[in-house]
Amino acid sequence: MRDAEDPRQAGGLLGERLAAFAHNHLLPAPREFIGGRETAYSPADDDNHVFNVSMLRRGAVAGAPTLSVDLYSRATLLKPAETYRQIRQAGAVVWLPKHRLWVMGRYRDVRQALSDDETYCSGNGVAANPVTNVLTAGTTLASDGEAHAKRRRQLLQSLSAKALSAIDPVLQAEASAVIDRLCDRVEFDGVSDFAAHLPIRVVADLVGVDIDHHRMLKYGRGGFDVLGPTNTRTLKAAPAGLSFWHYARSIRSASVKPGSWAQSVLAAGDAGALSPAEAKAMVIDFIGPSLDTTILASAQLLWSLGTHPEVWEELRDNPDLVPAAAVEAVRLGSPVRGFTRMLKKDSEVDGIALGRGQRVVLLYASANMDETQFEQPEVFSLHRKGANLGWGFGAHACVGMHLSKVEMHALMRAMIPRIARIQVDKPVRLLNNTLQGFQSLRASFRAQ
Ligand code: HEM
Repeated sequence: MRDAEDPRQAGGLLGERLAAFAHNHLLPAPREFIGGRETAYSPADDDNHVFNVSMLRRGAVAGAPTLSVDLYSRATLLKPAETYRQIRQAGAVVWLPKHRLWVMGRYRDVRQALSDDETYCSGNGVAANPVTNVLTAGTTLASDGEAHAKRRRQLLQSLSAKALSAIDPVLQAEASAVIDRLCDRVEFDGVSDFAAHLPIRVVADLVGVDIDHHRMLKYGRGGFDVLGPTNTRTLKAAPAGLSFWHYARSIRSASVKPGSWAQSVLAAGDAGALSPAEAKAMVIDFIGPSLDTTILASAQLLWSLGTHPEVWEELRDNPDLVPAAAVEAVRLGSPVRGFTRMLKKDSEVDGIALGRGQRVVLLYASANMDETQFEQPEVFSLHRKGANLGWGFGAHACVGMHLSKVEMHALMRAMIPRIARIQVDKPVRLLNNTLQGFQSLRASFRAQ
């Protein structure tokens, strides 16, 4: 079945019409913004929230490297490595006419862009389409400067290593219970039975919102799909994305679990530390990125350990390597393929001029496979030096990184004393505009 992506739609007329619709009909209390009406968030809340869809329509600079690939097609999503290689080979920054976006795929350049949030801003959204960039205003992910720092501090009250130390024993007990159960089974699904267990059973409850886990997963996955260009996949996910947005707008302190993470941000809104609208948008920060990302990373871990029995042996002999295994699974899997940034000022990368207002996809997944940075990048190794970009880097580096690490550590620590051999088979890849990894895979454990 073909995905009917239309190259003209990415930042084009349909995108503009949808963005105008979002502004005019979905966003309450509009204010002024460049070229139209603004969102409920004032520039005082969010010091870079200006939005100009016409900026997205500018073309490439003559002579700039150009590639006619579709970064979001079914074929690319099923086998991304070749497209990523073409992008890295074509140049430091490459124009994609199909999407009317720039893309960066080399480790050094992506890292440099992530460390320069004065130029590569997130406050105009990190999606490849203008509607999602309007609707995600107010989140931590889509903010800059002081507004971003304030929101991030608030999230860290729940997600810092110190705050999470209390849940470590709970995660370890849950991980041991699930590994025991899976040992008793002839085979299981490495994604839904193994990787999804901790995010769904433990993390979703810590967030504390009154929606069932199935819907939370749908919101999360849809939320990542609608970060893509205005293609079929984005449009299909739009109802889930909009329901998620509506849910966040209607949430009240009274409707979330007392003492939960969601309640902590809503209470900050009630107390005036955040605006009420900002606090509601920030509930998205807990729900959207906390499930699928970690599920995909844990499934990659299981796959890598199953397909590299010698590495599993090594890990069992030396459990101090558990943290290295989690980091390597995130590098190799790169659950988040990339986010976009809008240029706040004119810039230049390797002699290629980028204009203010243009949008660039920062492709973490490609950077993590850059052969000039990682020797034999396709190999799963517990001995790599230095960081990778799977959790991002710089001001917006993943604020839930520690949580995802402790979940993966708990699973490995539960497996080490019990499992002699991991078998994996029949991987099915996930099709999502922003996420990558396994939708399902068959697995079995051979106990000690
Ligand atoms: C292995 C699992 C995970 C991966 C691979 C991952 C990946 C990422 C990446 C690449 C970014 C950078 C965004 C950017 O550059 O614009 C990010 C940011 C973020 N992540 Fe994660 N993430 C994971 C788990 C989590 C979890 C468990 C949470 C829990 C709430 C979370 C919440 C966030 C938030 C709120 C941000 C925005 C931070 C900011 O803008 O300052 N993530 N994540």
